[in-house]
Amino acid sequence: MVTITRFLQMLRGGAQMTLTTKPRGTNDIAPGEIEFWHELEERIRRVCSAYGFQELRTPIFEHTELFQRGIGEATDIVEKEMYTFLDRGQRSLTLRPEGTAPAVRAFLENNLGAGSLPVKLYYYGPMFRYERPQAGRYRQFVQFGFEVFGSADPLLDVEAIMLPLELYKACGLSGFEVEINSIGCPECRPNYRQELIEYFEPRIDGMCSSCKSRLHRNPMRLLDCKVEACQEVLAGAPPIAKHLCADCSQHFSEVLSYLDALGVEYKLNPRLVRGFDYYTKTVFEVTSKELGSQNAIGAGGRYDGLVEELGGKPTPAVGFAVGVDRLLLALKVQGKLKSEETGPQAYLVHFGGETKRRAAWVAHYLRSHGFWVELDYLNRSIKAQMKAANRLNSRLVLIFGEEELDRGRVIVRNMQDGHEQEADLQELEQLAKMVGECAK
Ligand code: HAM
Repeated sequence: MVTITRFLQMLRGGAQMTLTTKPRGTNDIAPGEIEFWHELEERIRRVCSAYGFQELRTPIFEHTELFQRGIGEATDIVEKEMYTFLDRGQRSLTLRPEGTAPAVRAFLENNLGAGSLPVKLYYYGPMFRYERPQAGRYRQFVQFGFEVFGSADPLLDVEAIMLPLELYKACGLSGFEVEINSIGCPECRPNYRQELIEYFEPRIDGMCSSCKSRLHRNPMRLLDCKVEACQEVLAGAPPIAKHLCADCSQHFSEVLSYLDALGVEYKLNPRLVRGFDYYTKTVFEVTSKELGSQNAIGAGGRYDGLVEELGGKPTPAVGFAVGVDRLLLALKVQGKLKSEETGPQAYLVHFGGETKRRAAWVAHYLRSHGFWVELDYLNRSIKAQMKAANRLNSRLVLIFGEEELDRGRVIVRNMQDGHEQEADLQELEQLAKMVGECAK
């Protein structure tokens, strides 16, 4: 039996836990790791500008209906994974689980299609899905995604595959594979839906409750069910290929011929369907062999009906999203994340009092010229300050001794070779030059 005292202790323990532990499925990115993120973000910007993409920033939360309509009611994301809440005005809002529906909303709301087409937008930021956390699968994760609006050209489907491949290669990643399929359009689907229903109906008893409830509402969604017990039945399900209409077949064969012409390796996967209702025609996924069950490092496809579905005029579109957390995981496994040795350009050692004031003044001057400068805030001994400079890997130490200050000078010590010289505190420009020289 739990006594009242124990119960109160447990409550207090629980409260303590929530103060010192992050929510399940989230990650801190601390110094030591954030540098890799910065480098990747830099590469993303570079590859996006080479392909002519401009950045779009949308809110972290949107009206819930955007995702219900955009992603589809009978999808795992909408049925089970959204962080949905009522705000104080009783509006239903949802933390964005993905970036495509928000990009379409922003494209329409800001009339971005008014200029020349196609419009190429990219985004980078956190997404939220209430999934079971495991290595590579988080409840808050970062996606870099991009969308192209206003052209049905199959070359754009291919560029939507090539852009992330450029990024993966630029990061040094190897051992990834592109899988591709066509899932047709609303014209191809009625016969395929019928064939799926006929295939699943006699087998549905052994399948999960989601599959049972979706069988007649949206039978294609059964194909991306992840429940173990359903996998055997799914493996035997008929593929869509023979139902593709002439336009979709033609489009897919052009996509494949561009891929061949551009030397992009891929694997046809007739069972690839993706877990969103908005896709039409081409869908693709890139997997890394370094990751376990969560091995997709990016995915995307064409969605020619979504802009119209969300209230715009018919506008073909295609896009892709890279899972940034997973990409970094794969790079880590391949030993491609190397931290560079960094450190301040100068550490200012002082003796407190007037020497500290002069050091603070010089620190301000050097920082305003873009140098990384540190100084002591703990009133440590000179020996301890020198040690701190060493630990931080500072290139120079500037020693503000009382006797030197009386002469208007400061000692500049090069930490690499131990060489010391004096600098004139009236000639700060000269001092900045010296610091700059040493930083090279
Ligand atoms: P998605 O396949 O759901 O597609 O997500 C794209 C990528 O985000 C995945 O391949 C994976 O790398 C990463 N990802 C997804 N869920 C998680 C998670 N829980 N934890 C860590 N990483 C995750 C989309 O979101 C579509 N909006 C892609 C798209 C853009 N289609 C057209 N345009």
